Amino acid sequence: MKAIDIRNKYLKFFENHGHKVIPSAPLIPENDPSVLFTTAGMQPLVPYLLGERHPEGTRLTDYQKCVRTVDIDEVGDNRHLTYFEMLGNWSLGDYFKEESIKMSFEFLTKELGIPVEKLSVTVFAGDEDAPRDEESANIWKSVGMPENHIYYFGKDDNWWIAGEEGPCGPDTEMFYDTGKEPCSKDCNPSCGCGKYVEIWNNVFMEYYKDKNGYTKLKQQNVDTGLGLERMNMLLQGKETPYDTEIFAPIMEKLQTLAKHDEISSRRIVAEHLRSSMMIISDGGRPSNVDRGYVLRRLIRRMTRHLNKLEIDLSELLGLIDLNIETLKEMYPELEKNKDIIKQVIIEEKDKFVKTLSHGEREFEKVITKIKAEGTKKINGQVVFRLYDTYGFPPEVTSDLAREQGYEIDMQEFEKLFKEHQAKSRMGSDKKFKGGLADQSEETICYHTATHLLNAALKIVINKDVHQKGSNITAERMRFDFSCDHKLTDEEKQKVEDLVNEWIKQALPVKVEEMKKEEAIASGAECMFIEKYPDIVTVYSIGDVSKELCGGPHVKNTSELGIFKIKKEEASSAGVRRIKAILEK
Ligand code: ALA
Repeated sequence: MKAIDIRNKYLKFFENHGHKVIPSAPLIPENDPSVLFTTAGMQPLVPYLLGERHPEGTRLTDYQKCVRTVDIDEVGDNRHLTYFEMLGNWSLGDYFKEESIKMSFEFLTKELGIPVEKLSVTVFAGDEDAPRDEESANIWKSVGMPENHIYYFGKDDNWWIAGEEGPCGPDTEMFYDTGKEPCSKDCNPSCGCGKYVEIWNNVFMEYYKDKNGYTKLKQQNVDTGLGLERMNMLLQGKETPYDTEIFAPIMEKLQTLAKHDEISSRRIVAEHLRSSMMIISDGGRPSNVDRGYVLRRLIRRMTRHLNKLEIDLSELLGLIDLNIETLKEMYPELEKNKDIIKQVIIEEKDKFVKTLSHGEREFEKVITKIKAEGTKKINGQVVFRLYDTYGFPPEVTSDLAREQGYEIDMQEFEKLFKEHQAKSRMGSDKKFKGGLADQSEETICYHTATHLLNAALKIVINKDVHQKGSNITAERMRFDFSCDHKLTDEEKQKVEDLVNEWIKQALPVKVEEMKKEEAIASGAECMFIEKYPDIVTVYSIGDVSKELCGGPHVKNTSELGIFKIKKEEASSAGVRRIKAILEK
């Protein structure tokens, strides 16, 4: 049996038990900016668990595409996945514990043919919020679960809620015994030694939790989740999901391409490539914030590990094709979105390669210095400088440091990073008033482009050109500047070429704080000097531009795309206006 057969069997089984099969919601939640990705089958169903009527009725089943990022750094071991598929069935105020447990038991033992001896279950032990779940335990006994295969645990193990607030309740979890030796005489499904693997979770969702505690919901729901990759691995008697048909083709291909075999690097490439493809296919794009940053990290980490395996990065297109071939039966959308998947991954990889070469050179300098000093720890300020000036991700610094036997002070880095975030938030609040309508990746790019344009105008026209205003949206920039004549075509061309030349040079964008007088003395450009506080933030782009500014900006000009002037016109007396766009 393959993963897709398990999926089909599951949906059919529940359809035969009166459930309507509904489609998987996209990985990127619709209308819910509070979560990064869909992390469970119940997530798109929350309104219905709370009592709203679902158009398909009270019994539903689906397969749901999920991404969980909490364990992203664990990927590479034998079990953690970022992307996974969850099979689920729901009762929206319809059946409750008895029917739910009976159906699960029948599916596991009859449909999948798992012997009862291989199964163990856990139920809620009870506490001040909800009673001990004897009812579930008795139902398990009634279907034939041996009493010594039934365990009671507290909230940590047998209570389920997505996050801090929402519908929740006690659950009963089903475990598969791999047959490994018990780790101790107390070995049990919750000990985590690997003998017992959790395969299915049935949540009896009849509570709602908010900051004041628990209340009962209007209806008693059932929410279940079965991890497809894991079940597939167990049924095939494989040790890891990477040994199943989902990953085997790419794992083998990576082995033939790699100069040396590091299994964890191959797993990271295989996993992150599949996850990235799924996210992009559902509309995700890399950026420096939130879900965009998760995608960026996945592609970066994959690229790093391809490098580690010494696989030529030109192989990436072939690896994407191979993955589409492998996965298209399960996810036909991958084939449909093939072009955009390739485009996004390759562009992001190219960007990262540039960042890497700059950053790695800087990193080497750091190591040389540290060696001379005889320390073993790279301080957080250095890690932050690599990040802030060269866009070099802290996780990469950490990886590289580890490879050479050094540690990094992550705590100090986190502290500096938080301070920086607070500062750029302040900056963007200021900017908001000045017309930077939002803080998307596009507007940040345009913002940096205005600095380059300002610098280019000073060179092409004369050094007395000054900014008089700007207005930025995600689609374009407008820049007003002092100038006494209409720009000639030649001048416009020169300005455009210069900006594009600087973009091509992949200049780092650096931010520092200094006294206002010092900043002016150092030649930093500013619009209204009297408006700035005594301590100012100064952004420098390579050595072509230096301006007082609240940010935010890109880390490197290579992120900008192609700069094009669309229009040049009069704005007011002695002030000209340029409208320009960045083409990605
Ligand atoms: N929502 C439950 C889970 O994710 C089923 O485990």
